[in-house]
Amino acid sequence: MSIFKFHITQMGAYKPPLEGRDPHEHLLLDFNERTLPVCPMVKQAMIDFIQDDRLQCYPSYGNITEKLAQYCDVESEQVMITNGSDQGIDLIIRSACREGDEAIIPGPSFAMYHQVAKVENLKIIEPSYSKDKGFPKQTVLDAISDKTRLIVISNPNNPSGTVVIKEDILDIAAAAPNAAILVDECYFEYTRETVADVVDQYPNLLITRTFSKTWGLPSVRLGYVISNVENIRALLNVRGPYDVNQLAVVAIDAALSNPGYTEQYVKEVMEVSKPIFEDFLNEKGIDYWPSVANFIWTFPDNPDEIEKHLRAHSILVRPKADESGRVGLRINLGNKAQTESLIQTLSQII
Ligand SMILES: Cc1ncc(COP(=O)(O)O)c(C=O)c1O
Repeated sequence: MSIFKFHITQMGAYKPPLEGRDPHEHLLLDFNERTLPVCPMVKQAMIDFIQDDRLQCYPSYGNITEKLAQYCDVESEQVMITNGSDQGIDLIIRSACREGDEAIIPGPSFAMYHQVAKVENLKIIEPSYSKDKGFPKQTVLDAISDKTRLIVISNPNNPSGTVVIKEDILDIAAAAPNAAILVDECYFEYTRETVADVVDQYPNLLITRTFSKTWGLPSVRLGYVISNVENIRALLNVRGPYDVNQLAVVAIDAALSNPGYTEQYVKEVMEVSKPIFEDFLNEKGIDYWPSVANFIWTFPDNPDEIEKHLRAHSILVRPKADESGRVGLRINLGNKAQTESLIQTLSQII
């Protein structure tokens, strides 16, 4: 018999298909990452930190929260740094929910919400996104009960790329005042959609964001939560004092001092690469979900064959099934040259 809780022993691990990925060998369009290296100033700051013989000291975060709060246009007491937004998601769900509570997690969506909800042994209700209507607002509202303690709003949602308008988020927050409304703004820099300005009016709103995507730093694991002061204080009681490593703080400090490299990248992806790729999909008659993010969920007739062809040409994309089981390919976009290379390789088989 296991010493662990029975339901934990029955779960599967969250294992994203990361093995063998190499940015020097592949064009990585499978994890919604930034496809270009970070700016030299970020790298140099990390090198300087190591050269300065600081590795033997425990982390101390200095004014990073203040700097981040300024970037987010909120008060510093409304922000907390985390070990990736995955940790923010974990802390929020763990702190808000008890075993047996209900969690409304529209799907398909990012796997981590289910993973943490299962660890907490929550009852998961999963309304479906649809290509026509996007976020299933009414089904979410209808599913709210006395037991609802968590509602996840992934904005934009991964893999569908769909957006939820602010008014809909606030309607849901008002309809479920006893539930944590987890608004995942992982792709914020691509959309600029946020509810960060109303966390004081809606005390159940908790936003997670990250430096893993547009900022190009998933390897160092730095995310953050934005919420009202009371919620942040409570979450800080759960987060460990050193959960965020010092090199991550050094890296994002330098990144925040050099926002141009991110802004320029976002502009190229959204204003150049994405329209080119959408034109290609339209021209070839390939079905796809309209996306507000840097990735597009496409539904060609022969996804397996296309995925293999791309892989054989060192381009990685991510197969993802919709709610009916139909397999699509989620493809994130890089700069113009990378998008042209993607289109050229796709044209060989489509
Ligand atoms: C919607 C969404 N939220 C959160 C994450 C995880 O981000 P992080 O690297 O900050 O843990 C991802 C990563 O793919 C994501 O797609």
